[in-house]
Amino acid sequence: MHPVSSALLSWYDRNARVLPWRGIHDSYRTWVSEAMLQQTRVETVLPYYSRFLSRFPTLSSLAEADESDVLKHWEGLGYYSRARNLLAGARQVMRDFNGSLPQDPEKLRKISGIGPYMAGAIASIAFDIPVPAVDGNVIRVISRLYNIVEDASRPAVRRKIESIAAELVPPERPGDHNQALMDLGSGICVPGTPDCSRCPLSSFCRSLSSGNPADLPVLPKSRPQKVIPWTVLIIRSGGRVLLRRRTEKLLQGLWCFPMVEGCLTPEEAAEAAYKALGLPARILCSCGKARHVFTHQVWDMNLISLLSETDLPAPKGYCWIPVPDIRKIALPSAMNAAVRALDE
Ligand code: ADE
Repeated sequence: MHPVSSALLSWYDRNARVLPWRGIHDSYRTWVSEAMLQQTRVETVLPYYSRFLSRFPTLSSLAEADESDVLKHWEGLGYYSRARNLLAGARQVMRDFNGSLPQDPEKLRKISGIGPYMAGAIASIAFDIPVPAVDGNVIRVISRLYNIVEDASRPAVRRKIESIAAELVPPERPGDHNQALMDLGSGICVPGTPDCSRCPLSSFCRSLSSGNPADLPVLPKSRPQKVIPWTVLIIRSGGRVLLRRRTEKLLQGLWCFPMVEGCLTPEEAAEAAYKALGLPARILCSCGKARHVFTHQVWDMNLISLLSETDLPAPKGYCWIPVPDIRKIALPSAMNAAVRALDE
């Protein structure tokens, strides 16, 4: 075993976080946990993981589910394509792999939503296959450990990091090794301010001895997010409110209030409800502002509440939803402020 892995595993044996997806040998549960943990903190995932598995305890139960039910159980977790891919993947496993996830990382990668990282994570954690699982945390740990000062987004540098990661994986306990790297990356070898005095690998760390761990990995500057001003129209009619199930790639399948681009006055909003949706409506109130940050864009939302005439048909693509039924359908967190405004 590589001395780095040996030091890492003995640290893990003393410090591993106790998490519900650890110490089990159930590849479906590993898959669900890894799908939820992509881009998301462990603390955020914990309640979602248990609720999701209570509702969809087996891969076949998930494969038979409706997308709307799966999205409802993902509501608030973000990056909803993960949920759609997980469902499509479960159906694919039922159809093409007799209902069981394959062990071979190459076969795993053919499944919807499973990329190189997740294939490595599932193969090593659920099936004890000695393969690496390289995500952003592991890129950071290895860049620092080997003082890799080249741009880690370049394919050649990325390959170098992957090959080092592969050399480090031990034949025994590959899943523990990979999860130890994840724990190290999220608790000690963190971005910006690594806590090197607590690091079990500090004696091996080349950037600590001859560079600056805090400066690594070197990555290109990310582009500033685009800020989009929106006016969110909260249009009620009787006890119902107008919503639309999104077809756009962002938040596809989730329900949102009608939105028009720009920051409109209440009068302009009422006019937009008539012109864009054909709904004559009067102004109830201006209900404040809300902001939601996505990966590549920010929504700056201005909330206006309107009352439409009763018994008008919903415009094409929209539905009148009884207000109490809102909790039965999946709305993204971006709509939280508008949902709260319904109670005011
Ligand atoms: N992040 C991604 N996968 C993880 C795991 N299995 N344990 C802790 N953090 C993770």
